[in-house]
Parts: sequence; C-alpha cells; structure tokens
Amino acid sequence: MLTVALCKGKLIEPTLKLFAKAGYGAARPAADSRRLLIPCPEIGMTFLIVRPTDVPTYVEHGAADVGIVGKDVLLEQDSDVYEPLDLGFGACKIAVAAFRGQIARDRLSSKIRVATKYPKITERYFNQRGVPVEIIKLYGSIELAPIVGLADRIVDLVETGNTLKAHGLVEIECIARSTARLIVNRASLKLKHQAIAELLKNLRSACASSPRPARAASPKPARTAGRKVKRART
Ligand code: PRP
Repeated sequence: MLTVALCKGKLIEPTLKLFAKAGYGAARPAADSRRLLIPCPEIGMTFLIVRPTDVPTYVEHGAADVGIVGKDVLLEQDSDVYEPLDLGFGACKIAVAAFRGQIARDRLSSKIRVATKYPKITERYFNQRGVPVEIIKLYGSIELAPIVGLADRIVDLVETGNTLKAHGLVEIECIARSTARLIVNRASLKLKHQAIAELLKNLRSACASSPRPARAASPKPARTAGRKVKRART
C-alpha cells in the first residue's frame, strides 16, 4: 500500500486526471470533499489531502511515501526528498514584479522591501545580486503589497500574468520556472521499491502521452541557488 500526498488547490484536478490516465482511475477524492484521508484499496493507495506547502513535510518524514507538489514549494523548502519526475502540468514562473516606474530601484543603495510567500528564494536571488532587501513574508494576495505601500517589489507566482496586469504591475525578471513534480521519500524508495517503480513507470508513460502545455513566455530564467533535490535512479 502506498500513501500519496496530494495538494489542495490548482494542482489537484490535473493530478487526478494524470492518475486516471496512468490506470489509477479509482483515485477520485472529490475536489470539494472535506475528507482528508481517502483509502483506495482497489488501487493499493491511500490519498492524503494536504496544503501544498505541507506536501514535502509529509513525504520527507515518511507519513506519505510519495507526493505531488509544485517545484516552487521544493525550491523554497529544500526538502530532503527524491524528485524523479516532472509531471509537466501546473507550469508557472516565480518572478520579481513591480510598478513600471519602480524598475530602476535596484541601482539605489537603500534597501528595497520585497513582499513574498517565498522568503528563501527571494533572499537567495537578491543576495546573489548584492542587492540589499528587507523581506516581508505574506501568505497570499501578494499583489496588494505595492499598492498599499507595504513593499517596493513582490516575488510571486505568475501563470497567465493577469493578476499582475490587473494591479498595474510588470514582471521584471523570472527567477525560476515551476511545474508539478512527483517526490518520493528516501526510505520508501528502498522499502517499497516495486510499488514505487510501477507507479513511476505508469505516470511516466501517462505524461509522455499527454500534450505538454505551452510554456509561458518570459525572460531567461535565472539560476537558483540552494541544495539540490536529489534525483532517484528508477
Ligand atoms: C497565485 C499567485 C498570483 C496568481 C498568478 O495566487 O500568487 O496571485 O496566482 O496567476 P496569474 O498569473 O494567472 O494571474 P493564488 O491564486 O494561488 O492565490 P494567493 O493570492 O492566495 O496566493
């Protein structure tokens, strides 16, 4: 039996579609259900429905054998998990944005205030550039921060760019690209090797036969620092 951590929100529907395509059609925890633990013995899996930022924690500690989560969360958390498969969906960017007139501020010596859900990614990015910043950690509605004077910049997810546009903000630079990833607990990979290898094989072929979503146009991605998520040999 495999325990699979799925994240609530935007990734759950494409995840369930991919699982169905991979032959795990019984994996149908309803998106609107309040159930957090869904046993599906007919496919040998139990699903846990958790917040995106909690998926790596469940997998790293072995409460889940595998999980599906955005690369953005993995870059922020540096979790000690294997990341054997890019699932391709959920494509977006982690980008720096500001009001158009604010773009030249990096050249000033005073600290700039940056609001973000991603304090570690933000700190690494500005440190690499030698730009002094004060990071303001928020949990959502990041685009509001420059409007009300809480921050000079934001670092946030950009998918269509509509939210930035609606708030008069422009993307300055793409820090990293993100898609949904399959992550695996290190011990589970050894102890449940057969079940995990089979899941990987089935998900891989389902991914291969899925049309790859077009990547959003953006400037060249900058390299992100930090510990690499380990890749498993499968
Ligand atoms: C995310 C992100 C942006 C928006 C970007 O927010 O933080 O606000 O999506 O999408 P777009 O480029 O397609 O407009 P989310 O919906 O996760 O809500 P949040 O504000 O609570 O983070």
